[in-house]
Amino acid sequence: MTYLMKSREANAMSKKDKKKKDFDKYWYYNKSVQSADVDVQFFLSSYKELKEKQPKTFREDFCGTFKLSCEWVKLDDQFESFGVDLDPEPIEYGKAHYLPKLTEEQQGRIHIQEGNVLDDGLPSTDIIAACNFSYFIFKERDTLKQYFKKNLSALNDDGILILDIFGGSECYEPNEEETEHDGFSYFWDQDSYDPVTNEAMFYIHFKPKGQKKVKKAFTYDWRLYSIPEIREILLEAGFKNVHVYWEGTDEDGEGDGEFERVTKGEDCESWVAYIVAEK
Ligand SMILES: C[S@@+](CC[C@H](N)C(=O)[O-])C[C@H]1O[C@@H](n2cnc3c(N)ncnc32)[C@H](O)[C@@H]1O
Repeated sequence: MTYLMKSREANAMSKKDKKKKDFDKYWYYNKSVQSADVDVQFFLSSYKELKEKQPKTFREDFCGTFKLSCEWVKLDDQFESFGVDLDPEPIEYGKAHYLPKLTEEQQGRIHIQEGNVLDDGLPSTDIIAACNFSYFIFKERDTLKQYFKKNLSALNDDGILILDIFGGSECYEPNEEETEHDGFSYFWDQDSYDPVTNEAMFYIHFKPKGQKKVKKAFTYDWRLYSIPEIREILLEAGFKNVHVYWEGTDEDGEGDGEFERVTKGEDCESWVAYIVAEK
């Protein structure tokens, strides 16, 4: 009897797991989180603004499904991109779903490798970007500094490192925010915040219309860094200049997606900014 119950439970579990596995979380992630075509425009314009010339090569650290790399090669037929991620699963997803949407010639200018962004010998490029706050995974200040130092030495002369960062008073308490999209809801769930360590746990959930919520499709165990902390660590690592690009506001008081170089920010409940460091 016990055995039977256990195997029924096991069966139920595996069905649940299978359902989760069949759920195309990267499709939902792309629809709700990513705007890679717009992001690469920002990378290009900030390089041109700071260096007054055209870049060519782009490295996408923590590349996951390497959407940014795919968008980068579309901008110019001389552009080349390099992606690095530890996890083969999103890389395979990108190869199956995003690469085939490019021409063969564009595909030939994308180079993706499975690896650790802390490894030596990663490709040298004009731009390195670590986006979706992925570097928050380095909870030790020294590890983050090490990462920045490696980026500095990998960047070509005149290279820039681009990081995104978020903050605001909302980040210092657990909260869950729902955003409705066509056919589904996206949930950004800050589960915890520890003021002693600045560590915080985040989840992304999705709820397709008329279906059960798929909880914890993505999990992020991060340390929240502030802009001044990142600026200081970048300068200590040897970067020459560090700039902050702040998002403008539309008529409803929401972010308008346009980022401008600033020396002062605004006291918002929730904000996203870019940090651009010059070699
Ligand atoms: C927040 S996700 C961002 C993925 C990608 N930027 C995107 O928007 O699709 C973080 C990614 O970093 C990868 N990752 C975590 N630590 C890493 C490391 N030390 N080196 C390389 N990749 C890492 C994970 O496998 C995951 O794909």
